[in-house]
Amino acid sequence: MLTFFGGKGGVGKTTLSNAYALGRSKQERVLVVSTDPAHNLGHLWHQEIGPEPVTVRENLDLVELDPEKATRAHLAQAGETMRAHMPERLHKEVDKHLELAAASPGTHEAALLEQMAVLIEDHEGSYDHIIFDTAPSGHTARLMALPELMSAWTDGLLKRRDKADKFADVVGSLGGETKSQRRDAELRSILYRRRTRFAHLRDALRSSTFNIVLTAERLPVMETIELYAELAEHRIPVGGLFINRRSPAALPGRRAVEEEALATLCAALPDVPVTELPLLDYEVGSPEALEEIATYLQR
Ligand SMILES: Nc1ncnc2c1ncn2[C@@H]1O[C@H](COP(=O)(O)OP(=O)(O)OP(=O)(O)O)[C@@H](O)[C@H]1O
Ligand SMILES: [Mg+2]
Repeated sequence: MLTFFGGKGGVGKTTLSNAYALGRSKQERVLVVSTDPAHNLGHLWHQEIGPEPVTVRENLDLVELDPEKATRAHLAQAGETMRAHMPERLHKEVDKHLELAAASPGTHEAALLEQMAVLIEDHEGSYDHIIFDTAPSGHTARLMALPELMSAWTDGLLKRRDKADKFADVVGSLGGETKSQRRDAELRSILYRRRTRFAHLRDALRSSTFNIVLTAERLPVMETIELYAELAEHRIPVGGLFINRRSPAALPGRRAVEEEALATLCAALPDVPVTELPLLDYEVGSPEALEEIATYLQR
């Protein structure tokens, strides 16, 4: 099972996803994955967390994906694929193209997505539940749309190769297997592997749960409604809305502002379950505090 926590910057995604994971870990084997480039799981758990899962509690492991490293690995692999595809005299062009790609927006997301797909493939069997603490919302929605795009891209390439292959088969049957045929077969197997990986991720996303974290204010509410629509477009189900840092009754004016924002939210998304969390008057960045917060998240 996969669960995502997403939302605007600073709303409490890391706090809530980790508290939720801690709660779940009493019943199942849980892995928390941070996909935010500005990792902070280490601060929260007072322990160093890295690209390999670290056990912080019984049944609870944490891992921080490294998007920089992912981008480099992704481009190295893309380079390999492209070089196999191109005549040697164009290999310098390939390198130039990759340098440009490294700096272009989207590469980072694609690399991260590939890393997520590999992580799910590698660890699905070892955990009952993988929980993602994602980067702020715009980024997340784009990330969620990518498997679709990338599968389509890979499909297109494969179709073209299949046509070329049929032609090569006819020509090839006149002589032996050529170097270019072997190269094509290699390329096709790389593309098939990627396609399978992205298709798998797309299916996994569609049967996952996406939780949106927000505060009870007008702007976060509007953004949540937009994010919900974007996720719906990609058929990613939203499991719950987590309203964080609700003001105490001792601040009636503030409460009224929040109620108004929440009324807009519930009118727009009447069928999505809502969980509220109070503004806590102690430091919440510790494992002890997470235990406490987990009790609010039990449903
Ligand atoms: N219910 C709460 N009461 C009090 N403080 C809270 C509460 N929830 C979160 N915080 C605090 O608010 C800050 C932001 O929370 P957190 O880091 O979980 O947000 P985030 O959405 O992950 O942020 P980012 O987008 O930067 O990753 C942290 O200092 C956290 O300790
Ligand atoms: Mg965070």
